[in-house]
Amino acid sequence: MKRFYIETFGCQMNAHDSEKVIGTLVGRGYEQVATPEAAELIMYNTCSIRDKAEQKVFARLQEFKRNHAGKTFAVLGCVAQQEGEKIFEKAPHVSMVVGSASYNRLPELLVQIERGDKRVTGLSLDTEDTFETPLTRRDNPHKAYITIIEGCDKSCAYCVVPFTRGPERSRTLESVLREARELVQMGYTEIQLLGQNVNSFRDAAIPGSESGHDFAYLLRRIGEVPGLRRVRFTTSHPRDFVKDIVDAIDENPVLCNHIHLPVQSGSTTVLSRMQRLYTRDEYLRRLEWMHGAKREIAITSDLIVGFPGETEAEFEETMSLLDYARYESMYIFKYSRRPNTPALQYDDHITEEEKTRRFLILQEKQRAMQIRQNAELLNRVEEVLVEGWNSATSQWIGKTSQNRTLNFVHPHGREANLLGQYAQARVTRTGPSSMGGEAAE
Ligand code: 5AD
Ligand code: SF4
Repeated sequence: MKRFYIETFGCQMNAHDSEKVIGTLVGRGYEQVATPEAAELIMYNTCSIRDKAEQKVFARLQEFKRNHAGKTFAVLGCVAQQEGEKIFEKAPHVSMVVGSASYNRLPELLVQIERGDKRVTGLSLDTEDTFETPLTRRDNPHKAYITIIEGCDKSCAYCVVPFTRGPERSRTLESVLREARELVQMGYTEIQLLGQNVNSFRDAAIPGSESGHDFAYLLRRIGEVPGLRRVRFTTSHPRDFVKDIVDAIDENPVLCNHIHLPVQSGSTTVLSRMQRLYTRDEYLRRLEWMHGAKREIAITSDLIVGFPGETEAEFEETMSLLDYARYESMYIFKYSRRPNTPALQYDDHITEEEKTRRFLILQEKQRAMQIRQNAELLNRVEEVLVEGWNSATSQWIGKTSQNRTLNFVHPHGREANLLGQYAQARVTRTGPSSMGGEAAE
């Protein structure tokens, strides 16, 4: 059993976990293959953030069983943690169930699988460790992820993450810096720092640690790593987001001028029921810091509509927040009930129809704002990292520091060989989400 196939769902943390899991397996002599047909071991890294995640996982596991009887199956990630040993009951063909807080134990768990054990689990959340691997199989040649903090100590009333990823654990500043330097050696110029809540990153070795500025300190240090051109980070929690982060971005153009700061709701009463630990005014203050920065910072957000008890007036407050925020883009979600979460106790749930209505209203408002805001970018020259070539449109695909997509034509077309390079492009066309342009030298 040396060939494995892995399928991954969920957030960037999950995508990067899979890169580390793949590295761990390859380091043990396994070979990754592109289809379940070619594999003896089938791994499934799951997400349970919304909707009927569990049902989907079991349906997929049934499909695997039908088409690949006799192979070894492993379930990883958030559904593994959430459902635990129940997975063996509902899907007896599965031999291994491992949550992300136990990935450090993978080598030992693999030994158990290799010797034929049928019920191998890694489900403890009681850990102070982070998952660090000697080998990581990164598949994006331009941008490399670095985990800086795992788990989450918040308890947002709607969210499964505290139950699926365990308590907060930071890596050390030194090991993060070491990894950044190694990535530069490997040829990467852009890195993205990852964590459920990067702003709570802590390292007692940092001068003045515990003052809430450790993450800003880390950003400044990473921004100085020779050879790095771009540093991004996600995701931020407004409660722990300090102005020093904006100052650090102002000081160093290597730190990308994009901040994802999920608001979830524009209403203080809803935020309180969500246990988000900040008010509308406190969030507005953070918007002021970003709007007041010397560099123009693109702000993006997540929003939940139809949280239990959300009144029309509370929803209106979210609508009006959009006018202040001027989000560059936004993910809107309809509230969905998740196992174990505190919000399940609320009894005033909103109907699906009403959630959909609010979803569409918000979406339309944001879309109109994006069309207006993006039109202001016309004729601007932007630096882009070229991430691909679109042969259908004969355009290079570029990403700006603000994380906007700018597709552009070049007089030499594909021959210009721009992949992985930084180029200047002028914006000639704007729409609600992406922009078109031409090379500008
Ligand atoms: N229902 C709807 N959206 C949710 N999110 C997290 N949990 C839920 C839920 N139960 C959204 C939040 C979060 C994003 C990753 O997913 O907006 O920021
Ligand atoms: Fe999904 Fe949340 Fe787990 Fe990421 S942390 S995989 S979004 S449930």
